[in-house]
Formats: sequence, structure tokens, C-alpha cells
Amino acid sequence: MTTHHPLYETRYGGVDQTVPEITTTLIDQLLTHRSVRAFRPDPVSDAQLGAMIAAAQSAASSSNLQVWSVVAVRDQATRDQLAEFAGNQVHVRKAPLQLVWLADLSRLAHIAAAEARPSEALDYTEMFLVGVIDAALAAQNAVAAAESMGLSTVYIGGMRNRPEDVARVLNLPPKTFAVFGMCVGHEDEARPASVKPRLPQSAVLHHERYSTDQAAAIADYNAAMARFYEAQQMDVKGTWAVHSAKRVAGPASLSGRDRLVEALKQRGFALK
Ligand SMILES: Cc1cc2nc3c(=O)[nH]c(=O)nc-3n(C[C@H](O)[C@H](O)[C@H](O)COP(=O)(O)O)c2cc1C
Repeated sequence: MTTHHPLYETRYGGVDQTVPEITTTLIDQLLTHRSVRAFRPDPVSDAQLGAMIAAAQSAASSSNLQVWSVVAVRDQATRDQLAEFAGNQVHVRKAPLQLVWLADLSRLAHIAAAEARPSEALDYTEMFLVGVIDAALAAQNAVAAAESMGLSTVYIGGMRNRPEDVARVLNLPPKTFAVFGMCVGHEDEARPASVKPRLPQSAVLHHERYSTDQAAAIADYNAAMARFYEAQQMDVKGTWAVHSAKRVAGPASLSGRDRLVEALKQRGFALK
């Protein structure tokens, strides 16, 4: 074990972190992940999109059901609409490609119907969750693939603010749900993003049993994030802990997503 490595220093914001002696080019790349919110207009090519999707399809999938889909949106007018639905996020407007990742039970419903078989299990929350998990695993493989090609991304959870509007504009059939969007493009080097520190491993990695003794790790992380905010000249009020607590203060903190169960039921998920 070594104790210093530039990629670990950045990833953990200078908080002491034991550095494993092993690494690979893939791990090094993952350690440098940054969400990017400033894009050049240059397009993402069909070849780049195809490679991202092949990587996405290479993710594990629950029972190999592959209950996810993705809508690739390049059209500016549609991106403008999606940006508005997602809380007027400028980067959704500007990034040349918006990928909208779906939990998709509709394909399986059709397959069952074509086979003249019942598909009542699709009405259970478990199957909705399977779709969300499949979509998320696929999407993260696509992010890693994009970054390996020099592209940049940022997930857009704001796509859940107005699920019915997103579904209408993208012509989504029942039993599909836009889990999140994803901006893809080339970073505007004039406004580069930085690697954002993560919690110390001791907060997230538990050996054999869960440990609630996380106060020291959280204090260290608050300090690391304070250094990050200052370096980025970000005017963030309070510590990371305060900022995070504010995000869960009440239904109003959920940007319209407090009515998600209702929206999901309208989208054809019974959530039994
Ligand atoms: C599911 C999900 C939804 C997100 N939604 C948004 C979003 O709507 N807008 C945005 O600017 N960033 C969004 N993000 C990006 C996070 O803010 C970002 O990942 C986090 O601050 C950590 O920064 P990093 O990715 O640069 O390490 C989202 C990330 C995830 C995983």
C-alpha cells in the first residue's frame, strides 16, 4: 500500500486515503470522471454514439431481460423542450446530444402478448426497479465509454421533473419511464470542470457489518468540499452536510418529483 497518488488525492480532495498498489488504465480513467456542463457545439458522431450504446448493452442485465431503452435526441427544438422540462438547464439546450435513458417494460409486455402469455408481474414495483437498475447500469457504461473517447457527459435527473411532458414529446409508450437524461458532447475547454471529491472510503465501505460510526469521515469530507468550493470560487452556503440535508428537507426540495408515484401510475406502472 502507498499513501500518495495524484488521482487519489484529487478524488478524495486531499483527505488521507490508503492507495492500493494495483491500478489499471480503466480505473485511472474512472478516477478522473467529471460531470461537464459547458459544451462546444461540435456534434457527437454516429460512430461515437454506436460505441457508447454497445458499451451500454454490455452491462449486466437482470435475467438478461434488458428492460431499458434510450432515446438519442439531436434536434435543437426537442433539446430546448427537454431543457425546459428539466428545470431550464442550459447545458441540456447546449449539448449536441441528449440521451434519455428509459426503464422500458413495454418491449417485454409486447413480447409476452405476442407469445400469448400473461405478464402480470410487470405490474409490480420489483419490475419497475429492475428497469431502473438496468437503465442505470447501461448508462454508466456509456459514460465510461464516452469519457474513454474524449467526450464528456452529465446526467440529468431533472428529466424526472415532468415525466408526462417528456413522455409526450419523445412519444414514449406506456410502461416506459425516463429515468434520467444525459448530456453528451465535447467539453468547452474555456470552462473546464474539475474532479469533485468523494466521501472517504471509510464512510461507504463497511467490512462484514454496517458501521454507523461515520462522523469523522463526514467531518473530513466537509473540510475537503470546503477546499473544493473555495478552489472553484463557488459560493456555497454551509458545509456539504448542510447543503445535502437541505436537498431532503421536504417535498418542496424534490423539484416536482414528490408526485412521482402518481406520474408513474399514469405511465402504466401499477407499482403493486
Ligand atoms: C442520476 C443523476 C442525476 C443527475 N442530475 C443532474 C442534473 O439534473 N443536472 C446537473 O447539472 N447534474 C446532474 N447530475 C450530476 C451530479 O450533480 C454530479 O454527478 C455530482 O455533483 C458529482 O459530480 P461529478 O459527477 O462531477 O463527480 C446528476 C447525477 C446523477 C448520477
